[in-house]
Parts: sequence; structure tokens; C-alpha cells
Amino acid sequence: MRMYDIIKKKRDGHELSEEEIKFFVEGYTAGEIPDYQASALCMAIYFNGMTDRETSDLTFAVRDSGDKLDFSAIDGIRVDKHSTGGVGDKTSLVVAPIVASLGVKVAKMSGRGLGHTGGTIDKLEAIEGFQTTLSDEDFMKQVNDIGFAIVGQSRQFAPADKKLYALRDVTATVDSMPLIAASIMGKKLAADDDCIVLDVKTGSGSFMKTVEDSKALAQLMVNIGKRAGKKMVALITNMDRPLGFAIGNALEVIEAVETLNGHGPEDFTEVCLTLASHMLSLAGKGTAEECRKMAQRAIDDKSALNKLIETVKAQGGNEKLIQNPDLFKKAKFSHSVKSVKSGYISRADTEAYGLASLALGAGRNTIEDEIDYSAGIILKRKTGDFVNAGDEIAVLYSDKKQSFAEAEKILLNATTLHHKKPAEEPLVYCTVE
Ligand code: URA
Repeated sequence: MRMYDIIKKKRDGHELSEEEIKFFVEGYTAGEIPDYQASALCMAIYFNGMTDRETSDLTFAVRDSGDKLDFSAIDGIRVDKHSTGGVGDKTSLVVAPIVASLGVKVAKMSGRGLGHTGGTIDKLEAIEGFQTTLSDEDFMKQVNDIGFAIVGQSRQFAPADKKLYALRDVTATVDSMPLIAASIMGKKLAADDDCIVLDVKTGSGSFMKTVEDSKALAQLMVNIGKRAGKKMVALITNMDRPLGFAIGNALEVIEAVETLNGHGPEDFTEVCLTLASHMLSLAGKGTAEECRKMAQRAIDDKSALNKLIETVKAQGGNEKLIQNPDLFKKAKFSHSVKSVKSGYISRADTEAYGLASLALGAGRNTIEDEIDYSAGIILKRKTGDFVNAGDEIAVLYSDKKQSFAEAEKILLNATTLHHKKPAEEPLVYCTVE
């Protein structure tokens, strides 16, 4: 088999066989196929697409390129949730404890943030002492004992994706639906869950900018998961506005704890309850409506909050921070951002909000960058709110006072004001099964 023929076949719009896809993924991972041929194939896929069968084969080849987890030592149904990445998205910190408190196992592997999006592992590391690395035995024991454990990806999961993603990033081939689906699901399927709920973000802060594209991506990923024998459902959720008011690691943990205490922002609480209800329902706990009531009860009676406290303690974190979030270390400096004009906030460029938080030190430009856990933004006004000139729209937090000017500029440019109130947009557009 020759890589040249595979590129030519896809360039001319034909369907690749399973063997050809495996040849490419295995050869590229092993360093036998050069970057220029791999990028030519990615570009051919970008223009000509892939059938569902090809995309599944690409996903399975990516999954099989590295380590896989065996969760058979965990008793009971295991359910996971995966978000395609957003700004202010701390849902895992709320939905996993809700689901685990209701007897469904959550053995979670999460990632770190890069660029404008945050990562759950960085948020957890804002909790003093929290260990995001556990041995397989300790990880599974904790899931069996308390129902929930969460770690970073220390193993070599889907190395093909790591290499391919870096290549796509510099060859303008990231936003190809089959390549995104294979990248996300290739990593997800390396873990051994029974059920997966996908939270496919749509809008300015996400990969998919329209609901139609998000639905198509969701359907593709649901089909791939089902082919791999998983129970799947995807929700299309709105990323045209940040979720909740907090952006930045410790600030987001605090907001998650407030939500588990029943005082969370309305939009964030709604998305969490919807995700948790689908996770519970896939795991066989009842209909989505019944499960939503159960999830609400787990917040009301504090069992979900207690599950988070138990998990933090089990992983070496200081649980007092969860019991009393006022104890989180505060940023050295804060700065109030005021609106220069009056009007309704008609649009908030979520991606830019993420970049403003990055400028404050809350994220990374490169994988080696250090994070300032207390840095970030608390929004005071969101899309649809009316502001007068001089009203505070956000407060910035950072240990680097000099970062405020840039972050403020980004934030103000990202917030569009209009004399008319914008139409209300749904938080959850639809469910794809
Ligand atoms: N997230 C991923 O993991 N991969 C993509 O290609 C896009 C989003």
C-alpha cells in the first residue's frame, strides 16, 4: 500500500477502505509517514469529507493507537460526560457529584485547558492538595468506594490524535467534521465507559458556530459511539454566552460549589440538571424527567455537595475549601470594567472572553505555561441585560496588575451593545440520540 495512492483516492472523492485508514494512522503514529503526506490527506478529507463508515474506522484506528483502560474491576454502570469545550464550562464539577450521589459510577478522565477554553483538571488543581494522578488500582478503588474519581490523562491515550491534532492546527484542517469527530471519540473510546453523554457546544466560544453543524457533528459522534457498543446521547448547548458568571479556575470551582449549594446561576444550573438527567437516564435510572427530579433533589438535600467533598478529600484536596469557598486564595489585584455606552448587551463574544481570562493568567498559550489559579473574570452583566454608561459589567482578578489593560480592552471589544433587547436564545437546543 502506498500513501500516495490513499491521498489521490481521497482527493478524487472516493471512499477509503478500513485497511487504508489503518495504514495511514498506524504509519503516521510510528513516524513512517511524513507530515507533508498526512497534511495532504487531512486537506483532502477537509474538502471531500468522509462517510460515516470511514469516520468510524478513523476513530477506531485513533483509539487503537495507544493505551486503553479496562474498567471491568468497577462494579455497576459507568457513565461519562464529554464537552466539546467552552468558556466558563465547569459542568463536570457539578454533574459528576450529582450522578455519583445517585449511585451511578463516574470514572472520569479530564483534560487541561489550552487557548481560550479551560480544562477541568486545571480547575481541580486550584483546590490545594488535590491529586490529579492516581494509580489504576487507586482510581478504580475510589470509584467503587465512593462512586466518583477524576484524573488527568497521564497515559498514552490516542497518540495518533496528539500528532494529528498538532498537524491540523498548523494546516488549517481543524474544522473538518470527520476529523473532529474522530479526534474526540478516538480519545473518549479509549476509556471503558458504558454510557456517554456528549455536550456539543454551539456558538462563538466553540468549534461549531451554527446549530445545524453542531447537530451534524453530534449525530456523527453518537453513531460512532453506538458502533463501539456504547449507550450515547448528545445535547446541543449554547456557547454564544459564557456559562454562569465565573471564568477562571478557582472562581469556577467556587461557582460550582455555590451551584451544589442550590445558589448557582440559572443558566449554568439548567445545563447541569439537563446533563445529569441524561447521564442518569442512560444509566437506567428512569426517564429524563424522573432523573431531572432526582438530580434536583441531590442538590436540595446536599448529597451531591457531600459527594464532591468526599471526592476532594479522597484525592488529597483540602475539603475545607469546598465547605467554605471564602478560604480560596484571592488574586492580589482586582479591576472593575465599566461600560462606556448604554444599551442592551446584544452579543458577547465568548471566545474573546476566554482570551481575556487567558491574558489575566488563568490559562495557557502553550502547554508549558504556568497558571494563576486565582485569576479570572466575574461577569456582572450578560447578554440581554441593559447597562448604563459607567455600570460595572465585569470584575477582573489577577496577580499581574499590568494584565488588566489588555484584558479590559478584549472584554469591552467583545461586548456589543444595542438599543433593542436581543431575542432570548435557548440554552439547550436539542437532544441527538
Ligand atoms: N476537540 C478535540 O479533542 N479535537 C478536535 O479536533 C476538536 C475539538
